[in-house]
Amino acid sequence: MAFPVTRLQRLRRSGALRGLVRETRLDAGDLVLPLFVTHGRDRREPIAAMPGVERLTIEHVVAEAAEAAALGIPAVMLFGIPADKDEEGSGAWDDEGVVQLATQAIKEACPELLVIPDLCLCEYTSHGHCGVVRSDGQVDNDATLALLARTAVSHARAGADLIAPSDMMDGRVGAIRAELDDAGFGELPILAYSAKFASAFYGPFREAADSTPASGDRRGYQMDPANADEALREVLLDVEEGADLVMVKPALPYLDVIRRVKDATRMPVVAYNVSGEYAMVKAASAAGYLDERSVVLEALTSIRRAGADVVITYHAKDAAGWLSETD
Ligand code: PBG
Repeated sequence: MAFPVTRLQRLRRSGALRGLVRETRLDAGDLVLPLFVTHGRDRREPIAAMPGVERLTIEHVVAEAAEAAALGIPAVMLFGIPADKDEEGSGAWDDEGVVQLATQAIKEACPELLVIPDLCLCEYTSHGHCGVVRSDGQVDNDATLALLARTAVSHARAGADLIAPSDMMDGRVGAIRAELDDAGFGELPILAYSAKFASAFYGPFREAADSTPASGDRRGYQMDPANADEALREVLLDVEEGADLVMVKPALPYLDVIRRVKDATRMPVVAYNVSGEYAMVKAASAAGYLDERSVVLEALTSIRRAGADVVITYHAKDAAGWLSETD
């Protein structure tokens, strides 16, 4: 019986010991809450596939943002649902647009809370694509850059704390950086959706933002889910062009990419736990198949363990509440 057993269980015998040697911590301060801002007044519209998430008019968005801030969540991300859409997506750079007005209103009510308007055209274009569509149906990358840069300056003027392009056009971080610098916003950081995959997990979001492409899909500009080396090329290019934080999206099916990006860049890495990931947990919990609280905290901790510094998640308010309770 001289057989030497390495006793890893010695450090698992009590909550205090487990806490002492815990490698990854999850904190409300690491979370970002996405919000859907719709036009008009005093409306809250539930989103069928995302129980607990609603499209809100500005006054409700401000209240929701204040609740997030009170829970210790440092930032909200805003997606706009405009009253009208057009071919170009001109609502995106309208200084009186839904997202611009919501940004101003939140900054007035909660100056400490960081506001990150999502920068893309797909919520504002009648065809639902993330850029200018040519007559052959393809998105015109270079013609889109000027529109994105213009939208970035409009977000900056509204009081955005971070500029967050999610369109996946080549060269957009450089174009946006140059335009922001010219307009006097040289100190405003860019959070680039660098490795954004053409994912089926965005399904519920497209219902929420009414941004499903009318024809075709996004595989011509978003990444192939099979490619991780290419994700690193995307990230490194964005860093070269001036990105201050980089994002991997979705999160749970791409934990390997998060780890590789962190190791290769040592940049602040943001992961987006997207609508489909949220919908799966909510559906399984509602059916009684999973314990929601445990699953959410485990999943968010895993995304942090993979290398994400920040997690954007629709679970942010629930998670912040659970994390503040002692267990
Ligand atoms: C817009 C955008 C999308 C998401 C965030 N920004 C959808 C898309 O690319 O179709 C998805 C977010 C989610 O699913 O929660 N470009």
